[in-house]
Amino acid sequence: MTGPVERVTPASAGRLAALHASSFDRPWSPADLASLLHMPSTLGLSLSSRDGLAGFVLVRMALDEAEILTIAVHPDARRSGAGRQLMDALDAALRDAGIERVFLEVSTQNVAARALYDRTGYSQVGLRRGYYSDGTDALVLEKTLHGSGQDGA
Ligand SMILES: CC(C)(COP(=O)(O)OP(=O)(O)OC[C@H]1O[C@@H](n2cnc3c(N)ncnc32)[C@H](O)[C@@H]1OP(=O)(O)O)[C@@H](O)C(=O)NCCC(=O)NCCS
Repeated sequence: MTGPVERVTPASAGRLAALHASSFDRPWSPADLASLLHMPSTLGLSLSSRDGLAGFVLVRMALDEAEILTIAVHPDARRSGAGRQLMDALDAALRDAGIERVFLEVSTQNVAARALYDRTGYSQVGLRRGYYSDGTDALVLEKTLHGSGQDGA
């Protein structure tokens, strides 16, 4: 059972780093995350459960576009809709911020993330061959947010 989605602050950098390390081979340090979260262009949302941080997503905004920098759900909390809850809340927050288009990169091998992005309305707009250090390709995905700058509906 997860709680409401909340805005992330730099004070959460340590908890975010621990969750990031449980989800990626190349973890981001608490210091890296703190400096990212201090930038006004960064927006972060998190979701908690009884056991602590269940997931988070970070984006960077520029003018009317945003890029998803990372999203992670705790291994124990996956396949229960937490990723989708974060992505839906992100859409609402980005619309409120006047963002019209969202981009991200995802490994062609990342079945879970590709399913999440497919279900939340992202479509492929590019392919970066050999983008990751292990030689795998990245898909570039995009979503248009309709109704940005209005009432968030
Ligand atoms: C990708 C990730 C955030 C998904 O989080 P999650 O909370 O498990 O996702 P949800 O439970 O909301 O699932 C969303 C959809 O994707 C599908 N899905 C999730 N994991 C899946 C998997 N391993 N295989 C197939 N489909 C999967 C779900 O069935 C659901 O579809 P549905 O609504 O039609 O049932 C999570 O797997 C994760 O943290 N992975 C490691 C970090 C990572 O790879 N991040 C993305 C980097 S680009």
